Amino acid sequence: MRSPDLSFELAGVTFKNPVLTASGCFGYGAEQDGLCDISRLGGICTKGLSLAPRPGNPPPRIRETVAGMLNSIGLENIGIDAFIEEKVPLLTGVDTVVVANLFGVAVEDYARLCARADDCGRIDAVELNISCPNVHEGGVEFGVDPVMAAKVTAAARRSTSKPVIVKLSPNAGDRIVSVARAVEEEGADAVSLINTISGMAVDVRSRRPWIAKTYGGLSGPAIRPIALRMVHLVAGSVKMPLIGIGGISTWEDAAAFVLAGASAVQVGTACFVDPSAPERMASGLAEWVAEQGASSVSELVGALRSE
Ligand SMILES: Cc1cc2nc3c(=O)[nH]c(=O)nc-3n(C[C@H](O)[C@H](O)[C@H](O)COP(=O)(O)O)c2cc1C
Repeated sequence: MRSPDLSFELAGVTFKNPVLTASGCFGYGAEQDGLCDISRLGGICTKGLSLAPRPGNPPPRIRETVAGMLNSIGLENIGIDAFIEEKVPLLTGVDTVVVANLFGVAVEDYARLCARADDCGRIDAVELNISCPNVHEGGVEFGVDPVMAAKVTAAARRSTSKPVIVKLSPNAGDRIVSVARAVEEEGADAVSLINTISGMAVDVRSRRPWIAKTYGGLSGPAIRPIALRMVHLVAGSVKMPLIGIGGISTWEDAAAFVLAGASAVQVGTACFVDPSAPERMASGLAEWVAEQGASSVSELVGALRSE
């Protein structure tokens, strides 16, 4: 029997399978070499990159929760220039798609980051993280406002010919649909969803929040049902492909996102538990596609039965 076609095509870039690692959970890629076979992944998303390096938030900035974790890393990163100079060479010869996750605090930052990524041959696509507070517009996340999300997407679209993926914030609630439509109209090639959900945990003995900055982003299996619903909701409202994210830990989880309408998935928190989880998911998906009698995973995207 021929093995099923797991590939996924996005604006001219081919991912060998639909399993990617999620931003912030897999470093800049090459550090994970030896812990898993990166070349067996559909792609990797880098830690969020900004124009200038950032130290991130003070500790404690991680707290394990029931079925997940809270983080408030504060987007610590080495900056896009150091990424291109120091980390990209380590990815030479690694046979997987490299997606640069980018974020800024102003619309122009996204344009400059995309232009920089456009010049780097090893970056195959960009993913815009629009979940950070926008200082120019009074500290509101770009991702919860369709107008701001559209402006960021338009600026990115003008600045790169590479595929543009916009990463949506669950903190928009059901307005996530309007945000998705707005970024599609401005030329986004895909959306990825979801980012973390704002949360909090308290140490009752010290009477302090466990996270120094009080609030953190909740991720892991705890958010999976919310993420799955949001993927399903958005899939019914846009034409572009979706990349599902949120608590995906097994191939069955990945398959559920495919049925809900995701063309690909990203694995985040599960990589901290087991960095080889994503590559095993790709094999599990291949068996599932064959067992379903399909010749390609794309046949099963959105194939959820309603009756
Ligand atoms: C420690 C940590 C750091 C993260 N850093 C980023 C980041 O830099 N940029 C971004 O877009 N998402 C970041 N995320 C969000 C993840 O990419 C992902 O959207 C989220 O964790 C949900 O997926 P999961 O439940 O599989 O972890 C981070 C998540 C965690 C846990």
